[in-house]
Amino acid sequence: MTVLVFLDPSAPDGRIADASKPTLMATDQGATRGDGVFESLLVVGGTPRKPQAHLDRLDSSARAMDLQIPSQDAWRRAMTTAVTEFRRNRASARAGGAVGAGGTGEDSRMSATENIPDEMVLKLIVTRGVEGSTIPTAWVQASEPPATGRAQRESGIDVLLLERGYDSSIAERAPWLLLGAKTLSYAVNMAALRYARVHGADDVIFTSGDGRVLEGPTSSVLLAHAEGGGPDRVKRLITPQLDSGILPGTSQGALFTAAKAAGWELGYGPVEPGDLFDADGVWLISSIRLLAPVNHIDGREIGSPGVRAGLTAELNQLIHDAE
Ligand SMILES: Cc1ncc(COP(=O)(O)O)c(C=O)c1O
Repeated sequence: MTVLVFLDPSAPDGRIADASKPTLMATDQGATRGDGVFESLLVVGGTPRKPQAHLDRLDSSARAMDLQIPSQDAWRRAMTTAVTEFRRNRASARAGGAVGAGGTGEDSRMSATENIPDEMVLKLIVTRGVEGSTIPTAWVQASEPPATGRAQRESGIDVLLLERGYDSSIAERAPWLLLGAKTLSYAVNMAALRYARVHGADDVIFTSGDGRVLEGPTSSVLLAHAEGGGPDRVKRLITPQLDSGILPGTSQGALFTAAKAAGWELGYGPVEPGDLFDADGVWLISSIRLLAPVNHIDGREIGSPGVRAGLTAELNQLIHDAE
């Protein structure tokens, strides 16, 4: 069940399209070159999480590639339409009724998902438009979150360190690499994930040519240390430097704000692989899967299961309480 809402000047709240029918021109530069930007955000109970941070990052990604995109107000309206339509379709599918206009089948299986949290994924996608045109193509896609992500929040993940090949200062020297932008060109990121799975792992942490820890293919990296006990307990949360050619994570940003308010010490890299192995906990964090505890990196256990679980519970509480 996927809902598509195209941003269209003639439809201020967006134009719902049938996701089971072709809707994109074959010459769209998003399809032919991966020339565009996107955002993925989680909607819980009908409310998008940290929409402003995602809209701001969409703007900054678009600026990095000289792409004119619709206003934040137009995105917000289309998001509201997509959320309303998706929830309406899901409710009617759960009730065993017909899926309404703009819905796309896949109905009776929904009743089996009733005890799953009320979550959906919104993707905001904008491309440079069809070849020869100057009008971007922009749409919002609403869909079910992948079940694997939910499972990995609980079970944790095994990770491989893989080289990305660039050094950690390349982003400033070579802005055309678009390293801090969330572009549609994710083929390399997906290839890294496939490589990890073929080699018995669930996910990846990229390292730079100069030996720094960077990010996951679809997530930010966090590590934590906890020292002492009781009221003197010191907890430190660290993430790689945001200017080292990584995407500034909206989830990492929101968690750091909440952790600071809760008395955690914060640090921004540089992080080296040895720091991950010395940590009490390592996590990959992103908007849809949220916090995935890392059990092993390159086959080596990170921290101890008990400490990892305790810190994970504390961080999950902070994420839950954050906007
Ligand atoms: C490369 C990369 N880094 C980090 C993140 C985490 O960003 P966010 O927390 O905003 O989802 C993502 C999210 O998809 C990503 O693709």
